[in-house]
Amino acid sequence: MNPSARMRRLRTSDSMRRLVRGVSLSVDNLVYPLFVCPGNRVKKPIESMTDCFHFSSDLIADEAKEVFNLGIPAVLLFGLPENKDETGSQAFNETGTVQQAIKNIKKAIPDLLVITDICLCAYTSHGHCGIVKDNKINNDATCEILAKIAVSHAKAGADMVAPSDMMDSRVAVIRNALDENGFSDTAIMSYSAKYASAFYGPFRDAADSAPAFGDRKTYQMDIASSSAQAMREIELDIAEGADIVMVKPALPYLDIIYQAKQRFDVPIAAYQVSGEYMMFNSASKQNVLDRKSAVLESLTAIKRAGADIIITYFAKEIAKNKL
Ligand code: PBG
Repeated sequence: MNPSARMRRLRTSDSMRRLVRGVSLSVDNLVYPLFVCPGNRVKKPIESMTDCFHFSSDLIADEAKEVFNLGIPAVLLFGLPENKDETGSQAFNETGTVQQAIKNIKKAIPDLLVITDICLCAYTSHGHCGIVKDNKINNDATCEILAKIAVSHAKAGADMVAPSDMMDSRVAVIRNALDENGFSDTAIMSYSAKYASAFYGPFRDAADSAPAFGDRKTYQMDIASSSAQAMREIELDIAEGADIVMVKPALPYLDIIYQAKQRFDVPIAAYQVSGEYMMFNSASKQNVLDRKSAVLESLTAIKRAGADIIITYFAKEIAKNKL
C-alpha cells in the first residue's frame, strides 16, 4: 500500500480534470439519421421519437443544410416508400423517395456526406429485411435486390451505402455491383454486428418496418451470442470489402465495440439506436435523469470503448451544445 497515492490530486478542479481527460466527443465523428417520406411539403413529427421528423424529399435539403451548418459531416437516410410489395421493389425505384432526397441534398449541399441505409424492411409488405420464400428469408435472392438498391442510391449521388439487413455475403455482392456500375468510389459502411435487439421499437414505428410475422432472429445476431461471433461477422465484412464496420445497438454492446477496436484497423461505427435515444428522453421527462449529463456520459462511454464514429439522434443537439 502506498499511503501517499492520491488519485484525487488530478480531480481538484475543472481545469485539472480537463487536462488529464483522455476521451473527448467531437462533432466531426457524428452522423445524424433522417427519415424521408413520400409527398410534398411534409415535415411531420414522429410520435415514437422525440424531436424527430418525417421529411418529404423536397424539404429534406433544408434540414440537411442545417445539419451541415452545425458542423456534422454526414447524414444517414432512411426511406418510406409510396407503396409496399412482397419484394420491396420500390426500394430501387430510381425516382423513389430516398433517391429523390439524395439528389436534392447533394445538389443543395455537395459537401455533406450522404449515407443511405440499405434494407428491405420498410419496403416489403411483410416487413422482413429480405425476400420471403416458404416462410423463410432467402439470403441470396435478397442480396441481389440489395445490390440493385445500392446502385440506385449511388446513381442518385450517395457517398456511402450502409447495408443493415444482415444477409450473409451482401457486402461482397454490393461491392461487386457498385464496381461494375462505375461506383468504385462509393464506400460501404456495413452494419456488421447487428443484434436482434429490443431497442429498435421506436424506429420500427417511424419507418413502419415491424415484421408482420415472426421476428428477425434468423438473420440478426442473437443477443447472447459470444463476442467471437461478432468478431467473425466483422472479419467477414472487412474481407468482403466493408470500409467501415458498425456495432448496433451501442450502449448494451460496449464490449463488442471495444474488442472490435482492439482487433481491426478499419474505422468502427456505433449506432446509438432509437430505443436508447428514447430511454434518455423518457427518463428525463419523468425527471429521474438529468438529460444532458446522462446523454453525454453515454456517448463518452461509447467513444471510450472505441467507436470512431457515432450515429445518434442527439447529433444536432450536441452540435448546438443544447441538450
Ligand atoms: C433496418 C434498420 C433498423 C434500424 C436501422 N436499420 C431496424 C431493424 O433492424 O428492425 C434500427 C435503428 C434504430 O432503432 O434507431 N433493418
